[in-house]
Amino acid sequence: MSAPRSAFVRACKGLPVERTPVWYMRQAGRYMAEYREVRKHHSLIEICKNPKMAAEVTITAVETLDVDAAIIFSDLLLPLGVMGLDFRFDSDEGPVIDKPLRQAADVAALRTDRTADLGYVADAVQLVARHFADRVPVIGFCGAPFTLASYMIEGGGSRTYVETKKLMFRTPEIWDQLISKLVQVLAEHAASQVRAGADAIQIFDSWVGCLSVEDYVMHVLPRTKELVQKIRKTGVPVIYFGTDTATLLPWMKQTGAEAIGVDWRIPLDHAWATLGDQGAVQGNLDPVLLFADWKLLRTRAEDVLRRAAGHPGHIFNLGHGILPNTPVENVKALTSFIHEASAPSEPERIDWFGER
Ligand code: CP3
Repeated sequence: MSAPRSAFVRACKGLPVERTPVWYMRQAGRYMAEYREVRKHHSLIEICKNPKMAAEVTITAVETLDVDAAIIFSDLLLPLGVMGLDFRFDSDEGPVIDKPLRQAADVAALRTDRTADLGYVADAVQLVARHFADRVPVIGFCGAPFTLASYMIEGGGSRTYVETKKLMFRTPEIWDQLISKLVQVLAEHAASQVRAGADAIQIFDSWVGCLSVEDYVMHVLPRTKELVQKIRKTGVPVIYFGTDTATLLPWMKQTGAEAIGVDWRIPLDHAWATLGDQGAVQGNLDPVLLFADWKLLRTRAEDVLRRAAGHPGHIFNLGHGILPNTPVENVKALTSFIHEASAPSEPERIDWFGER
């Protein structure tokens, strides 16, 4: 850990902070001119595999926005390559896996012994951690077993997850073999980011909301819990994020993650009530509100803070990643608004530190 006393790390642990920490999923991305400039000369994968470039993109986003945590610039799908599944990013379609997993032999062929080849991610974490020292914490991340398995099986994004669910329903033993292999690789990948200086790990289960509670509990929760427990052993807090998860929250909590990330479909106070008092909650403004006029954006941001009600353990974020074409000015304005609106007024601040 490089910034264990930062507001972000304290909030992950449910401890009180002076003002609500803010960061954004996809804070470094195409909406930012500096990133588009780097992308003119390098592909996404080239940036990810070059620690200096990945660190620079990460740092530029933090300094431009004045956010309270730096998520390492990397991609969820990189572990697929070291497991033997080639993928590429198509500019129109997003990620494409030409030979998706469909049968037992495909799963049996997946390798779990080359995670060290992802060392460039840890190298980038180390550069960012050194740059910020204890000023800004670094968030490492990995995909969750379900979400990564869905990319491997569907061959890309999906609306219905029909191939994923078919494999899960028809051959639960092969499904389990697949997600066990993922857990092994992801736990190692996360641990190497922690060794390099990451202060927290976020697990992205972006598409898990397509499951019923029953299927989540039966086919996903046990191995996801195993992953969370393995990462927690490294000593850093875990944030477990998914979208469309209103019905799954109590079960997601059972993974043991310190913080749960929620999207905008559920009011933050309802999410918190469902999750219980213990633990942190991250979220949850609709990223499309960043395209709205300032008055509406501010009202809705205020509403998120009102629902968090100063409860220790709130980490402000969007309900999903920043979208392309988002006006950067609005992201900056939102960040400073959250900082100001969540800071105690002057007399309270004096009380807070008992310095009166
Ligand atoms: O600033 C940050 O948040 C760190 C960088 C980051 C990227 N991907 C870089 C990226 C992070 C945290 C991710 C996570 C990721 N990658 C997720 C989980 C978050 C989510 O959105 O649910 C997922 C599902 C992926 C897989 C992925 N990568 C998709 C589906 C796409 C295409 C969609 C798109 O937005 O274009 C990507 C490409 C990608 N990864 C981009 C970036 C900045 C944009 C494309 C580019 O630069 O060419």
